[in-house]
Amino acid sequence: MTASQRPLPKAELHLHIEGTLEPELAFELARRNGAELPWADPDELRAAYAFTELQSFLDLYYRLTDVLRTEQDFADLAEAYLRRAARAGVRHAEIFFDPQAHTSRGVELGTVVGGLVAALSESEQRHGISAQLILSFLRDLPAEDALRTLREAKPFLEHITAVGLDSAEVGHPPAKFREVFAEARALGLRCVAHAGEEGPPAYIAEALDVLGVERIDHGIRCMEDPELVARLVAEQIPLTVCPFSNVRLRCVDTLADHPLPAMLEAGLLVTVNSDDPSYFGGYVDDNFAGVRDALGLTEDQLRTLARNSFQASFLPPARKAELL
Ligand code: HPA
Ligand code: ZN
Repeated sequence: MTASQRPLPKAELHLHIEGTLEPELAFELARRNGAELPWADPDELRAAYAFTELQSFLDLYYRLTDVLRTEQDFADLAEAYLRRAARAGVRHAEIFFDPQAHTSRGVELGTVVGGLVAALSESEQRHGISAQLILSFLRDLPAEDALRTLREAKPFLEHITAVGLDSAEVGHPPAKFREVFAEARALGLRCVAHAGEEGPPAYIAEALDVLGVERIDHGIRCMEDPELVARLVAEQIPLTVCPFSNVRLRCVDTLADHPLPAMLEAGLLVTVNSDDPSYFGGYVDDNFAGVRDALGLTEDQLRTLARNSFQASFLPPARKAELL
């Protein structure tokens, strides 16, 4: 590989491990576990990835979690992502997992965390990727469920860096989780939240002010509110933007219409990520190539995005300095 072909070193900060489940692995795990899938083969499943908005994606995403049952399944899932991410130039990954998508099916939290940690703990040595976990709450379920999940996670906190908030956004404002995030902060966890993906710009401000998050996942709808943009720039709040996801979930019409260049131009601390790469047509290197080609981003802008990803990470300052 020549220097110009080598992918830029980067951190991936917005990646749902359940969203890395490739159709081939889904069928392999279904066979291993005797789970029924309503598609004949991986190609037929892939053909079902025609989303109209966030909810139509989530319905399929949660349906497919049914094949994930044992520690080995979660370890295999994470290992497959890390192997692919290494080729994408990823040197550090902060990885979401959705405990409630598994505990609600009778899979214990210890099984999920145990499997993920088995892969993540080998990742630095095997793939040159340091990796951390973000426990994400499903915002369309009651806040009491999230609080119970946080309390169930207490035995595993040494493996968890932060908490997040995902799933159906509209109608589930951040403030619903005020108490949960306060308790998470008291436990020493960092806080992030999806906001301003499908939901209004006001949810972004609310996530900052009420939940005390340090980073906003997606956040693209901030561009509708110039005062909010000015605040995000002044406070250098990182936004983990996912271009392919935004197009596939119809938050943006086409990649060429994506607000990423305007966000960079405004001085926002934006990063580029893959979100759910198996479902949205590519990993983080594909997202970088996609925005370069569709939006004409310069090498300088691509380097800024890669640098921002380390800057926006939860790595300790000394490690950041090494990677920047
Ligand atoms: N948004 C909300 N919930 C999610 C996403 C997303 O992009 N991916 C997985 N769960
Ligand atoms: Zn996401």
